[in-house]
Amino acid sequence: MSLLPSRLSTVTADYRLNREAYLARIADLRRRRQAAAAGGPERARTLHKKRGQMLPRERVAAVLDPGSPFLEFCQLAGDGMYEGVPPGGSIITGVGLVAGRPCMIIANDATVKGGTYYGITCKKHVRAQRFAWQHRLPCITFVQSGGANLPDQPNVFPDEGQFGSIFWNQIRMSGEGIAQISSVHGASTAGGAYMPALCDEAVIVRNQGRMFLGGPQLVYAATREEVDEETLGGGEMHCSISGVTDYLAENDSHAIGIIRDLVAHLGTPPSLRWKVLPAREPLYDPGEIYGIVSRDPRVPTDNREIIARLMDGSEFREFKPLYGETLACGWGRILGFEIGVLCNNGVLFSECAMKAAHFIDLCCKRDIPLLFMADVSGFMVGRDAEEGGIAKHGAKMITAMACADVPKYTLIIGGSFGAGYLAMCGRAFKPNAMMMWPNGRAAIMGPDQAATTLAMVKDDIHRREGTAWTREERESYMAPVRKTFEDFANAYNFARHTWCDMVIDPLETRTTMALLLELAGRAPTQPTEFGVFRM
Ligand code: COA
Repeated sequence: MSLLPSRLSTVTADYRLNREAYLARIADLRRRRQAAAAGGPERARTLHKKRGQMLPRERVAAVLDPGSPFLEFCQLAGDGMYEGVPPGGSIITGVGLVAGRPCMIIANDATVKGGTYYGITCKKHVRAQRFAWQHRLPCITFVQSGGANLPDQPNVFPDEGQFGSIFWNQIRMSGEGIAQISSVHGASTAGGAYMPALCDEAVIVRNQGRMFLGGPQLVYAATREEVDEETLGGGEMHCSISGVTDYLAENDSHAIGIIRDLVAHLGTPPSLRWKVLPAREPLYDPGEIYGIVSRDPRVPTDNREIIARLMDGSEFREFKPLYGETLACGWGRILGFEIGVLCNNGVLFSECAMKAAHFIDLCCKRDIPLLFMADVSGFMVGRDAEEGGIAKHGAKMITAMACADVPKYTLIIGGSFGAGYLAMCGRAFKPNAMMMWPNGRAAIMGPDQAATTLAMVKDDIHRREGTAWTREERESYMAPVRKTFEDFANAYNFARHTWCDMVIDPLETRTTMALLLELAGRAPTQPTEFGVFRM
């Protein structure tokens, strides 16, 4: 292994200003996470506690083994999307250890609009299920949900990826032997009732958990039958008469104890398929990343300095270091796990794309997971690039990346734009997980390029129609375009829409990656079959 050299000076004004700018971003990230962790409004939380119930995050904490990490997915989903709904989208999802086994935990947050499902809640639930499926993780669902959020019907009901997919995923995972376990802690209506009914095993809490396809009001409206909630769908009824649920718990803690027992009964968790070496700290301080990341998007960051602060011992065996230098490819370790890294250090040229395809092939042959560290304005454009066949070389890279069936991770560490975003394992290419640093941005193109492109289209229209616009009119047309593209590209916009799984502090990168690799290493190896490479 070779040590990556560092030329960083930590005494320059530039370093200091970068660091100050980054620390402000970290404070902002913490604030956002705190807002998400608080859950619904005070009034709803108090009511919840008054009913003798644990808050959703308390349930999650109680089911986990003491000291277990909780790798939370899409924590900031839905932020600012719906009136009165805090970040999180009325659901909590993440992976942690239960009875020594990694499980996906999904918890409705009934303090947010009765735990009902908005479009984003469905997306987040489905995303958690896909991760669980890919990693063969048992799913534990804490149910307390009024089902579909009725006004958001178009985003909840008709399409694939919405509520129906939650059921489909549960059923098909169960079919593949991936355990589906739930407990019902409060009123769970319609879709909220089907989720536990479609589980392998279901627990319900006496005098609290209630499941019905239609609540008392709906029953009365439909049939004029008068019936109270407990009689219609209480725990005792479902465990002793309907048989819809399997175990009756006395309270939340008891239900969680039963769930832990059910998980313990699933047998020995699969073992790791990789050799993991003892973890070593990087030689260069990862904390220096704050001062390395350029505070100005127009000034590039030397990303090899970043790799040096993420790899164990700062060791990185670079592949073809003298060829296609604007894409660093090589092998290193993160907390002992080997990883093949592709990291942008400038625009993507044909040579970079060919090198990437070759490197990905090597990693697939050796069953080494891939980490795409994206910071790229796109592929090279212009006559030379086109004549050099950039489209076919880019196609080779994209084909290799798309077909690679080793675990893949995307980490956006800077700006990731256009086809560069896609080629660096954008969301459509199904990375096992996609993370962004708080400075991360992604879009079809940068704000200035978008504004210029659209203004030039208008210029052409003016020319064609023999009209004209003033410099001021042109600028006032461009300014909002710039702003829209800036807002779009923001990491928190990606998090809000669940286009990324998490926004992480650079200092959380190593632990997050190690947790992810630990999970992927317990799933079976998938053989890679490449599509046709255009030569
Ligand atoms: N769609 C949209 N909003 C809903 C909703 C639904 N299905 N169910 C509840 N809400 C909203 C309420 O309007 C209320 O909003 P607010 O905070 O702005 O006032 C909030 O969720 C909490 O509802 P509330 O009834 O005060 O809470 P609760 O804890 O006492 O009861 C439910 C929660 C879900 C059991 C209860 O509201 C209920 O039965 N809702 C109807 C569920 C239903 O019929 N779903 C059918 C889906 S197909």
